Amino acid sequence: MPKLNKKIQPPKQAKKICRIAILGSTGSIGCNALEVATHLHNRFKIVGIAAGSNWEKLASQAAAVKPRVAVLSDPSDAEDVNKLRSRLKRSRTKVELGSEALERMAARPDVDMVIAAVVGAVGLKPVLTAVRHGKTVALANKEALVVAGGLVMPMAKKYGSNIIPIDSEHSAIFQSLRSGRTSEIRRIILTASGGPFRDWSPDSLAKATVKEALNHPNWNMGPKITIDSATLMNKALELIEAHWLFGLSADKIDVVIHPQSIIHSMIEFVDGSIIAQLGTPDMRTAIQYAMTHPNRFDGCSNRLDWNNVKTMDFMPAHDRYPALNLGYEVIRRGGTSGAVLNAANEVANWEFRQGKIPFSRIVAIVADVLNSHLKSGFIARPSLAQLLDADQWARQQTTLAVS
Ligand SMILES: NC(=O)c1ccc[n+]([C@@H]2O[C@H](COP(=O)([O-])OP(=O)(O)OC[C@H]3O[C@@H](n4cnc5c(N)ncnc54)[C@H](OP(=O)(O)O)[C@@H]3O)[C@@H](O)[C@H]2O)c1
Repeated sequence: MPKLNKKIQPPKQAKKICRIAILGSTGSIGCNALEVATHLHNRFKIVGIAAGSNWEKLASQAAAVKPRVAVLSDPSDAEDVNKLRSRLKRSRTKVELGSEALERMAARPDVDMVIAAVVGAVGLKPVLTAVRHGKTVALANKEALVVAGGLVMPMAKKYGSNIIPIDSEHSAIFQSLRSGRTSEIRRIILTASGGPFRDWSPDSLAKATVKEALNHPNWNMGPKITIDSATLMNKALELIEAHWLFGLSADKIDVVIHPQSIIHSMIEFVDGSIIAQLGTPDMRTAIQYAMTHPNRFDGCSNRLDWNNVKTMDFMPAHDRYPALNLGYEVIRRGGTSGAVLNAANEVANWEFRQGKIPFSRIVAIVADVLNSHLKSGFIARPSLAQLLDADQWARQQTTLAVS
């Protein structure tokens, strides 16, 4: 066998370390992202982590992964801040406070990728900051696009920022798109498990408890998205997210109920081929793909055991779930409608979790607030300030409707 000439062998490609900031590191997505980053520790360096108020979890994470900065964005009181500072005083991690610190973290020159995993509209400003600084954004915080997709997406184009979805349905579409072009899509089909109340009668739904609504059959997620999955408001938000991410009109985005959550979503191309992405309901797969795209590496998520897949069922979604119509309405109207839908839902969802309204009122209240806004106050091409005003207005209206 001839000896290889070392001189003409291709040089080994140097591994590029990706420096990341995880906004919402203490949540369900954030913890999974930390796990993925730790699993692929020779490819990722964690520069920053951030939480809302859970200083204890933030402190333990900082002690474990030793980031340069840890942000507590919304501390409950000064005592918590003192405890966090004292816990980290001998470490090299700098503690920063407040929502502006989230934006500073998203803009840091030593951060290549921002993992947006906070819950709610609070994620919008740091996402906009990351985009404006040309960062890669691994996006779980769908609310940022629901509220301001019309600002975020053009800005991403202008500043060369890649937005890569973490939401499993959108990750499935994003991955399936490697089989064709966006212009070749006939429609995309987002799958929905149908949540814990899929087979409940309308009468029983009125009596559904918070505990029952938080008991999602397939996915283990934070409380807000788990309730959104039970009302199917999560799917409405996902319709809007898909519209902005993939530039599709409402008539090209469909939903089908698929209780087993094995198919995470699919694309029907114009020639009739349907390409889907499948797997276990384990967010680490979608998170890792967003973090390593366009490459794939050995993953730490649970693998699908085909011996345990007995059946895959599908059923229509539209007639049973009024929340979906609100999602389609927002795609058609655009403007301030997404900000209002999202804010009204954040409040109604929270009030249900506090035991203030019955489950069956959540979507009805959101629909009332949205309809009232569409009749008067709607702005077709809003600025960021006008979107934030619409958000505030909807929060006040929903609070009034609840009381
Ligand atoms: N969980 C899933 O499987 C899943 C799947 C797809 C998409 N998503 C999306 O991912 C996002 C996060 O969901 P999640 O389930 O991970 O939620 P979660 O478990 O409730 O975690 C929320 C995270 O946001 C932080 N946070 C809350 N308020 C904040 C504030 N004012 N400032 C800064 N950080 C704040 C929380 O910090 P504290 O711990 O201090 O409260 C926590 O780290 C949501 O947009 C959701 O729709 C989630």
